[in-house]
Amino acid sequence: MPLNPPIRDWKGRVVWMVGASTGIGRATAERLHAAGATVVASARNAQILDEFVKRHPGSEAIALDATDREAMRGAAAQLVARHGRIGLACYCAGHYRAMRATDFDLDDALRHQQVNYVGALHLLDAVLPQLIVQAKRGEPAHLSLVSSVAGYRGLPKSLAYGPTKAALINLAETLYLDLQPLGVGVSVINPGFVETPLTAQNEFTMPALISTDRAAAEIVRGWERGHELPQRWPVLRGGAPLDRVVTKTTDARVQRIVERFEALAAADVARLGEIYTPDARFKDPFNEVRGVPAIERIFDHMFATLDGPRFVIHDAVVQGDQCFLTWDFLFRMRRYDRREQRVRGASHLVLAADGRIAVHRDYWDVAEELYEKLPVVGSLMRWLKRRAGS
Ligand SMILES: NC(=O)c1ccc[n+]([C@@H]2O[C@H](COP(=O)([O-])OP(=O)(O)OC[C@H]3O[C@@H](n4cnc5c(N)ncnc54)[C@H](OP(=O)(O)O)[C@@H]3O)[C@@H](O)[C@H]2O)c1
Repeated sequence: MPLNPPIRDWKGRVVWMVGASTGIGRATAERLHAAGATVVASARNAQILDEFVKRHPGSEAIALDATDREAMRGAAAQLVARHGRIGLACYCAGHYRAMRATDFDLDDALRHQQVNYVGALHLLDAVLPQLIVQAKRGEPAHLSLVSSVAGYRGLPKSLAYGPTKAALINLAETLYLDLQPLGVGVSVINPGFVETPLTAQNEFTMPALISTDRAAAEIVRGWERGHELPQRWPVLRGGAPLDRVVTKTTDARVQRIVERFEALAAADVARLGEIYTPDARFKDPFNEVRGVPAIERIFDHMFATLDGPRFVIHDAVVQGDQCFLTWDFLFRMRRYDRREQRVRGASHLVLAADGRIAVHRDYWDVAEELYEKLPVVGSLMRWLKRRAGS
């Protein structure tokens, strides 16, 4: 499927974030404001929104209840009257209470439906014509819905919440079919566990729990990459949607490393010392180096020469200080072929006593995985293989 138009520049982009008073929406609004966007923050709590505006000059607040269709329409009209455009509309409002079949509560189930799903329909009703007109004029327009990994399949205690999130995923996928060809980006964000007021009520240990800052960074990165839909990240895999926040291992040392690699952005390279020991050894088919500065240079080079490089880690096998990871490395070349390329590989890590990486050795079949993707070398490699096999 084609990608959404990547959002490369936030400066002056009008972003309407519904559900921006706390949690993921708030952190994302803050990050976009810092990146230069004009943020319009909506939620019910007018006082928190006003404080947000004071702390983030240039941003605006429109308090509303998303279950009120006229309020949503009025807010959209106000926003368009003032700015003339909506560069990104994101529905992040959400309601969650644990519910099981043995304590089914119809009122609360309908409340979930109203806030999580019907509210999103109200946003569509309020912004779709505007986004389509903008796209026709060649102006940026993007619609994003925050769902959840709970929408993928039935989960315990998710009787009221899960179905609303499944509906949002389906809604976004269907919208994408209609809107992406018109030039309107559509993304769905499926977070794993994020530390917010919404999850504070959970009594169990939440696997791979991440901060709102981390979630916001993943979300914004997904929009910037223009992933195809569905965006997943557990908050970590789709335009980043968040199903990339999946637990790959119960070993906290390795999970931390996995999350770092899956979320690695150019700006994070300077922090690689947090996961590598100062004299760590690194070897892959092209490099053999020692020490964090040398390792950073390899990753800096990767971000400088490839578009959108990212790692998706599949399995982690841990035994004592030894760890084996299998992964896909995804990227686009700057020339030749602009399609996303995939290189499969594995890493053998030796961990130091503090959980950082002391030895990192990558294994991948360069000939099969990379050379064959290059035009001239690829033809030669395929010819050689055919000869060898004949
Ligand atoms: N935290 C997680 O682990 C997690 C995981 C997967 C998905 N999600 C999703 O992420 C989104 C944000 O959740 P969060 O964890 O950041 O929780 P949160 O801090 O409770 O944020 C929920 C936001 O929705 C707003 N909201 C609730 N009802 C509303 C209504 N009727 N009208 C307008 N705004 C309303 C709240 O503001 P007011 O109260 O001021 O209205 C708040 O800004 C939700 O859609 C949630 O389902 C969260």
